[in-house]
Amino acid sequence: MNIFPIILAAGKGTRMNSSLPKVLHLIGGKPMLQHVVNSCLQLSVTEMAIVYGHGGELVRNTVSNKNIHWALQEDQKGTGHAVAQAESLIDDDSTVIIAYGDVPLIQADTLSLLAENLDNSTLSVLTTHLDDPFGYGRIVRNGDGKILSIVEEKDATDEQRKITEVNTGFIAAKGSDLKRWLKQLKPNNSQGEYYLTDCIALAVSEGGTVEAAVCNNPLEVQGVNNRIQQAELERAYQVIKANELMLAGVTLLDPARIDIRGTVTAGKDVSIDVNTVFIGDVVLGDNVTIESACVIKDSQIARNTIIKAHSNIDSSIIGESCDIGPFARIRPETVLKANAKIGNFVETKKSTIGVGSKVSHLSYIGDTQMGENVNIGAGTITCNYDGANKFQTIIGDNVFVGSDTQLVAPVNLAKGTVIGAGSTITKDTPEGELTLSRSKQVTIKGWKRPQKAKKNDKENS
Ligand code: UD1
Ligand code: CA
Repeated sequence: MNIFPIILAAGKGTRMNSSLPKVLHLIGGKPMLQHVVNSCLQLSVTEMAIVYGHGGELVRNTVSNKNIHWALQEDQKGTGHAVAQAESLIDDDSTVIIAYGDVPLIQADTLSLLAENLDNSTLSVLTTHLDDPFGYGRIVRNGDGKILSIVEEKDATDEQRKITEVNTGFIAAKGSDLKRWLKQLKPNNSQGEYYLTDCIALAVSEGGTVEAAVCNNPLEVQGVNNRIQQAELERAYQVIKANELMLAGVTLLDPARIDIRGTVTAGKDVSIDVNTVFIGDVVLGDNVTIESACVIKDSQIARNTIIKAHSNIDSSIIGESCDIGPFARIRPETVLKANAKIGNFVETKKSTIGVGSKVSHLSYIGDTQMGENVNIGAGTITCNYDGANKFQTIIGDNVFVGSDTQLVAPVNLAKGTVIGAGSTITKDTPEGELTLSRSKQVTIKGWKRPQKAKKNDKENS
């Protein structure tokens, strides 16, 4: 079957109250339209069309894919008019699926079902049952349950408005049939629009049969018109993602308090505490533990590592059995080798921390290559920036840096170096020696602390 999806995405989305086109609003960190495109791509389609209008260029640039043909709908004259803009792209013997760009949770399986229905019908409609069907097109069936037409809320009789089976907007039909029906659409309804839904009655009038694929999960076919509905679908999406993780062997201490804006791939017996946010592509090895309120973006974390509460990790590679945080900030291009430790209020950037090395408290390590079993004392700063350029700090194996030290880059601490606390190191240090820069401690004997003048003295003066 040669499936050709046409995604309608020209609507203004006035109720979003936004300067961003509606279909570019995010669910799970990804534009809604991208979700729909991805579901279509899962059907192994080679090409698809998107009907766009409002916010045109931005939509085209954001959701780019070489398999997408773009059809401009300048004026929004209805769903039938929208599909007609893509007419020249439709192959007669293709199976066309019409989808909406603002229905982000639609699944590939459901689209497949819709297309497969055409094996024994002329037109296939995706419907769902709603307790409150207000606003939707109603599925009108005859006494035998055969679908006769779809009638829009505004055009429906009181009797028809009681129907709870509604049109989701998704339909499938053979290309040649669809093109023939599109030519016959007329805007003779209460909204003066070309209704795609009129194709149903046209198919029936030609003696065709219309089959419904009923979607039992209304959220999957729910559209987004305002930010309340967007938030509702965001939560529904997060439930799906959380369930996937739990079924893959991850413990979520509260599945309602995790946010995945991208892809999390996790090994066995990973544990994630509440309020952690994952962004982009994150890979977690076996037995990784993530405490509460961390933000982890585009990073790999190898097995047995623990990320303690309130840590932030971005575009970094964390080795196995590392210990990070609480309150650590691991910035892009950090590489932690196995058994490294990064403690509280430590920031790293573009640095490699060698096997078993420790930066336990209150430090900044940037543009640094650190060897194995190094110990960096509290409050150590690599001064990697002179206001114009960045410079490297090299720290050999088994170096011990005393607390409150500044390493002014470029600088190289040879292996086994010991730096005395409170030093400002501006020159390379020799292997295995103690180096320090510190002014001599003096004691002023008999020095008296200043005292406040007495109240009476003040008044007399
Ligand atoms: C449409 C259906 C209705 C169905 C409902 C489901 C018609 C006539 N009615 O209603 O039966 O229950 O969807 O949500 O089809 N769009 C365009 N160009 C246009 C008009 C719409 O691209 O000129 C796009 C919108 O961006 C949106 C989709 O088509 O993605 C649906 O449009 P919308 O106005 O929300 O649907 P309704 O007319 O309310
Ligand atoms: Ca409309």
